[in-house]
Amino acid sequence: MIQSTVPMYAYAFLVVLCTYCLSRRLYPSPKPHVPKRLTSLADIEQLLSRPAHIADHLSSRALANARLARAFNINSTFVNSDVAAHGAFTKFATALISPRNLPWGRLAYVAKQMVSVHLLCTNFPSIVAFDTLIRRITLHVILVALLAGYVDESAIEVDDLDLVAVGINKIWTLSKSSTYCPELLEEVNLRLRRWLPTYDNPIEIIIPTYETMWRVVAVAVSLAYDDVEATRLFAALLKQPTNEQYRNLADNSISVDNFMQEVLRLYPPTRRISRVMPVTSPSILTKLLPQFFTRQLTVAADIEALQRDSCWASSLGEFDPARHHPQRCTRQQPRTLLAFGAGKLTCVAKNWAPQAAAILVAAILDQVGLEKDLNIKAGRAVGGREGWEGWSVRKSL
Ligand code: HEM
Repeated sequence: MIQSTVPMYAYAFLVVLCTYCLSRRLYPSPKPHVPKRLTSLADIEQLLSRPAHIADHLSSRALANARLARAFNINSTFVNSDVAAHGAFTKFATALISPRNLPWGRLAYVAKQMVSVHLLCTNFPSIVAFDTLIRRITLHVILVALLAGYVDESAIEVDDLDLVAVGINKIWTLSKSSTYCPELLEEVNLRLRRWLPTYDNPIEIIIPTYETMWRVVAVAVSLAYDDVEATRLFAALLKQPTNEQYRNLADNSISVDNFMQEVLRLYPPTRRISRVMPVTSPSILTKLLPQFFTRQLTVAADIEALQRDSCWASSLGEFDPARHHPQRCTRQQPRTLLAFGAGKLTCVAKNWAPQAAAILVAAILDQVGLEKDLNIKAGRAVGGREGWEGWSVRKSL
């Protein structure tokens, strides 16, 4: 009998290698930085609401948000897979927005107060960039109203509000191209620690409470300021900032809620919600050597695309708050509204944030708009985190 000179383990290695190469050919590895994009409701629900343990949801989000952990030096639940940390963070955030901590009347009072501080001051320049002003007011309201139990109000300077707001924007935008700015982050943190001295790392609570809110306020103001009907609705809400007034559908008109739902449909601040998912090739060797046959794939739920889906009819790209009126809305349409995510990690402020943003919008429109001492000059297009070039608030002639 002829003895083989090639040992058995070499054959085994060859078989593994060939299977690996074959599986790579059949199931090619996606480029790591090009996420797979999901746009249908079924696929997005499958991703965000899959029946997995909360720990799996948290770890797939943490992996997808790793760049934010690095950019902002944070370890909050958005970048951390720890289940206990998630429970503590969401409990804390839920308590902040509870009516007991912050009744709507108190929020409206602080919003009016901050609008006066920033718009009615004697040294208000004849023209200010629109996004600067909205960021300044929103951040100040979040600090003084939502974080009332933690803030040292006397330490807040207007210039510092601008530095923090612009800094957060810049750090976020640059993180998308893996560019990090530790010196700028230090400047931002220096101010935040002065304002919120009892927090270990205050930016961890400022990001979820402020970063999406200012953009919703900015879009809503930009779409309402020259709309007489909308300004009338917001004025009524400021006078009576209750749940009933927010949803009031008087005289066949729309409600403020309809207006805000349309803002969030067309301009969701979180345009994509990403997860990193393990993908395995269907092979028996996957079971034996999972590390060779499992890849990490970034999958992005494209919320913006879903919310502009054809189920919203041919006018899907138009801003039309009346489409949310109960008499016009189909059963399917509200299911596609996922600006606050879906599944186990849905935003805890889903029912609070639209109404809170509307109260800020109402306080701003009380002082700015057609036939007011301050007016808005529109730019070319409605912006997002960036893109507000040409928009300004100026003294009326
Ligand atoms: C209009 C404003 C807001 C929008 C559009 C928004 C959007 C979102 C989205 C899309 C998620 C899910 C992220 C994911 O699945 O990975 C989320 C989660 C979260 N948001 Fe918001 N958010 C807003 C305002 C707020 C506010 C004001 C708070 C503070 C109370 C807040 C606290 C949270 C928390 C704690 C989570 C994590 C939930 C969890 O992990 O279980 N959000 N938000």
